[in-house]
Amino acid sequence: MTTEAANTDKIIKRIAVLTSGGDAPGMNAAVRSVVRTAITEGIEVFGVDRGYKGLINKDFHKMTMNSVSDIINSGGTVLFTARSKEFETEEGMQKAIENMRELGIEALVVIGGDGSYRGANDLVKRGFPCVCLPGTIDNDISSTDYTIGFDTALNTAIDMIDRIRDSAQSHDRCFVVEVMGRRAGYLALRTAIGAGATDVLVPERIENIEASIESVCEKIRDGVAIGKNHFIIIVAEGVSKMYEGGADRIAKVIESKTGVETRADILGYSQRGGRPTGQDRVNATRMGYYAAKLLSNGVVNRVVSMDNDVVIDIDIEKAIQAKKPFEADLFDMVKQVSV
Ligand code: F6P
Repeated sequence: MTTEAANTDKIIKRIAVLTSGGDAPGMNAAVRSVVRTAITEGIEVFGVDRGYKGLINKDFHKMTMNSVSDIINSGGTVLFTARSKEFETEEGMQKAIENMRELGIEALVVIGGDGSYRGANDLVKRGFPCVCLPGTIDNDISSTDYTIGFDTALNTAIDMIDRIRDSAQSHDRCFVVEVMGRRAGYLALRTAIGAGATDVLVPERIENIEASIESVCEKIRDGVAIGKNHFIIIVAEGVSKMYEGGADRIAKVIESKTGVETRADILGYSQRGGRPTGQDRVNATRMGYYAAKLLSNGVVNRVVSMDNDVVIDIDIEKAIQAKKPFEADLFDMVKQVSV
């Protein structure tokens, strides 16, 4: 635990926990760990259904050691999740705080992505203590190496592309596969490595989209020249969004420029579901445990993060302002290793 952490002057006796933003496999393991650790530390825990929306609608329910049984292995979130426009208003935030105070809740644990972190920081700025855990398949939170759900989504995407490869091989085709990640390319990049893709397009490395597509085509032509007849190209969702017509149009352009029959496949929401991997279960449990221990020590307004496999905590404001570096070394590696 870092020393500069803000300390509440009283012992925290009652907390609430919510999940927010896109669901991510491992969120349940994190909820389980927060609830069980907090209860054994003598803290009462309330679950909030549907994220910040639930704070406004008073969707609170008391959690017990048993209420989180048999959830470690399931994807999604038993606390449900939502994206709340109302919470973004001053009135919505004040209502959320009022409802928590009415129930005697002294701190809130938020499990979610960067939007959820900003929501928690808004509460902190209005005097309500929070601790955040990174839960998103995008792995785009700057303060942490790892986010809960990323490993499962990565494995799911790779598994689906292995299947697509069978079809690409059988038909002598190229597939343009769109991978999630909102504006970030972390999931797409690692998927490209794990699936052995020919090339990858990520938003962090696009200056001129037409030029980037031409460079993919060049790679395909080079492959054809050495006898390759099927190709997998990974396109991050963020790139699809910056190109009108998205992955479908990219596929058409590649086909017309290379002469290789090309199809698009958008992996979509199936990437977000399913049983969490061992890594997501273990790390979610470690981070949930750490968050509850922070609260038990009266430490608030922190985000729990992973730094080289060590769980740490960082000031929420600093965490939000930090910029996550792009994994340029991995990008260069894909370019060199893939044909
Ligand atoms: O943040 C997780 C994520 O799945 C992104 O990869 C994607 O862009 C977004 O959520 C989709 O959001 P929604 O569930 O609101 O459609």
